[in-house]
Amino acid sequence: MDDSTTQKLGKSSNTVWHQAIINRRDKEQRNGHKASIIWFTGLSGSGKSTLAHALEARLFELGCNSYVCDGDNIRHGLCGDLGFSPEDREENIRRIGEVAKLFIEAGVIALTAFISPYRSDRQRARALVTEGDFLEVYCRCSLGVCEERDVKGLYKRARAGEIKEFTGVSAPYEEPDAPEIIIDTDKHPVEDCVEQLLALLRHRGIAPGMAR
Ligand code: ADX
Repeated sequence: MDDSTTQKLGKSSNTVWHQAIINRRDKEQRNGHKASIIWFTGLSGSGKSTLAHALEARLFELGCNSYVCDGDNIRHGLCGDLGFSPEDREENIRRIGEVAKLFIEAGVIALTAFISPYRSDRQRARALVTEGDFLEVYCRCSLGVCEERDVKGLYKRARAGEIKEFTGVSAPYEEPDAPEIIIDTDKHPVEDCVEQLLALLRHRGIAPGMAR
């Protein structure tokens, strides 16, 4: 945590860290797999949630414990007080980074599906955990295809000026510089994308089984 974050969060004084008896390694050992954060980023409609849920289904078959944190869902609860200004998105991603870190401590594979448009916010989430615990998945898809898909009808409304600060239309999306993997979701069917992800997870020793 950098100084500015500590200052921002500096209201919880007089608290003392309590050490757990059962730690992450104990839980990973019992679960039979490593915990990690699979951080999906990309434009709205780029396939983040679709891939996260499809990957989770495969991981479930393989006996892995996982949880999908999905942007739209989380904004119904934990982050329901946040909008889409740069500051609110930053806070959204800060909270999700912290939540994902808790999943790691619980020995679980956390799959997060948030636009997370700012590099600095994604970097901050990455920095919360140990190197190798955070895999950034860039769901690369042209704006044109996302708009064509327009699953939720939001691009149309953004173009009509009904939704302000809409990513890709009237708010920025900063592409990852060095994601662990780029998935071109406008070029491959979902099943192929999931296989690419699974191969990476196996290669990294997260998912059980041999890398294909
Ligand atoms: S993030 O930018 O803070 O990471 P998040 O992933 O939580 O965004 O939420 C994005 C989802 O909120 C989109 O998929 C879309 O359904 C909805 N949404 C509503 N307004 C906007 C907006 N102005 N920009 C982007 N997404 C929006």
